[in-house]
Amino acid sequence: MENKYDFGLVGLGVMGRNFILNVADNGFTAFGNDIDTEKVNALITEGGDTAKVNASTDIKDFTTALSTPRKIMLLVPSGKVVDIVIENLLPHLEDGDIIIDGGNSFYTDTDRRDAYLKDKGINFFGAGVSGGAKGARRGPSIMPGGNKEAYQHVKPIFEAVSAKYNGDPCVAYLGPKSAGNYVKMVHNGIEYGLMQLTSEIYDVLKKGGDFSNDELHTAYAKWNQGRLQSFLVEITSEIFEQEDDLTDGRLVDQILDKAKQKGTGKWTSQNAMDLGIPIPSIDIAVSMREISALKKERITADELYNRPKVTHMDKEQLEKLTEQALYFSFIITYAQGLHQLADASKEYGYELDIAVIAKIWRAGCIIRAGLLADITEAFKADKDLPNLLLSPTFVEKVQRTVQAARIVVAYGATNGIPLPGLSNSLTYFDAYTSARLPLNLIQAQRDYFGSHTYERLDREGIFHTEWEKS
Ligand code: 6PG
Repeated sequence: MENKYDFGLVGLGVMGRNFILNVADNGFTAFGNDIDTEKVNALITEGGDTAKVNASTDIKDFTTALSTPRKIMLLVPSGKVVDIVIENLLPHLEDGDIIIDGGNSFYTDTDRRDAYLKDKGINFFGAGVSGGAKGARRGPSIMPGGNKEAYQHVKPIFEAVSAKYNGDPCVAYLGPKSAGNYVKMVHNGIEYGLMQLTSEIYDVLKKGGDFSNDELHTAYAKWNQGRLQSFLVEITSEIFEQEDDLTDGRLVDQILDKAKQKGTGKWTSQNAMDLGIPIPSIDIAVSMREISALKKERITADELYNRPKVTHMDKEQLEKLTEQALYFSFIITYAQGLHQLADASKEYGYELDIAVIAKIWRAGCIIRAGLLADITEAFKADKDLPNLLLSPTFVEKVQRTVQAARIVVAYGATNGIPLPGLSNSLTYFDAYTSARLPLNLIQAQRDYFGSHTYERLDREGIFHTEWEKS
C-alpha cells in the first residue's frame, strides 16, 4: 500500500501554505487541498518533494491520501465557508477522523459544529492559531479545544510545529468544545487593548514630548529590552524606522488613521457584557477603532472646537513616565482578559487552566510578552486566582507604576490628548481596588423610582423604602 500522509490541510492561502510547510519541516508528511489550482501548484512547487508535501484540488484524492484517523485542519475564512468545507469533506470521512478549524470562528459556531459532527462520529476541534503568516511558517501559538482523547492524535504534530519558549511548546489542550476558539477570541481582545495602549503612548510622546520617529524608535526599542519586552512593542519600534517608498518621510506618517477590524475584539466585549465581567480596556479599544472610522466627522468636529495648547514635557521625564504607564496598563489589560477567561470557564464548562494559557502565550502569538512568564507563575501559585490584581507578586508591580499612569492620564486630560485606554485601565484599577464605591446611591435611586429594593451593609435581608415625602 502506498504511503499515506500524516496531516491534511484545507485552504492554501498564505496561512495554510505556511502552516503545511511548517508541518513538513518538522518531519511529518502533509497533503493540502484548495479549490484554486494555482494555490495547489504553488504548494507542490514550494514543498519540493511530493513524498513529503503534496496537494490536490480534488477532495476525494485529498481524503484518500491521508492516514487514519485523518487529521484535517481547515484554514479558511471563518463563517459559512467552514460549514461548506465540512459538508464537502463529510462523505469522504470515517468514524474517528478529526477536523480542526484553525480560523477565528465564533465560539458558538464551534459548539454547533462540534455537536453536529459528534453525531456523525467525527471529532471536531476549534483551534485558535496566532502569530500571523510568519508564525504559521516558523512557529505559532496554538489554542486547541475539543475531545481530549482525540487530541492525542494531533498533539505530536502541533507540539512540533508550535513556537517554543525555553523549549516548551506553545500549544496545549485547553478544554472541551469551543474552549480553543474562546481563548483565541479573548487573546484577540487583549491584542486590541495592547495595540490601543501602545498607540496612545505614541501620541503622548509625539505631542507632549515632540519625539521624532527616530526617537520613538529608540524609546520603544529600549523598552523592548526591559520589562515591556513584547512582540507588539518590538514591531512598534520597527514601524517608526520604516521609510516611505512614495514620499521622503516615514511610512507611519502617511498611513490613514482609520483602524479596521474583523470582529474578534468586538465579540470579546460583547461576550464580557453577557458574562457580567468588566473589561473596559478592551471595550474602549474596540470603540476607538469605531471612532477612528469616523474620519470625516472627526475632521469637521476638529474645526468646531478649540483644543488646549499642549504644554510640552521634558523628554526624558516623559519617556520614564510613559514606560511605567504602559507597563501598568498592559498588566491591567491582561488582568481583564484573564478574568473573563476564568469566568467563562465556569459558565461554559471549559475547565480552563489559566496558567497553561499564559504559558502557551509566552511565544508565537501576537500578545507574547515577557510579562506572561510572570503571569504564568502567578496562576501556577494560585490556580483559582479570580483576578491577576489579587496576586501578591503583581501588587508590587502595579503599586510601583500606577502613580505614573495617574500623571500621564492627567497630562493627557489637561492637554486634550485622548488616552481612553490608559484612563480606562486606571479607572478600572481604582474601582476594582475600592472597598467602597458610590453605587449605594444607584441602589437608592433604583429603589426610589422603581421599588427595586436594596441590601444593607449592617444587616442581612432585602429592603424597600417609601422615599417620597408626600
Ligand atoms: C493573531 C491575530 C489574528 C487576527 C488579526 C486581525 O493572533 O494572529 O489575532 O488572528 O486575525 O490580528 O484582527 P483584526 O483585523 O480584527 O484587527
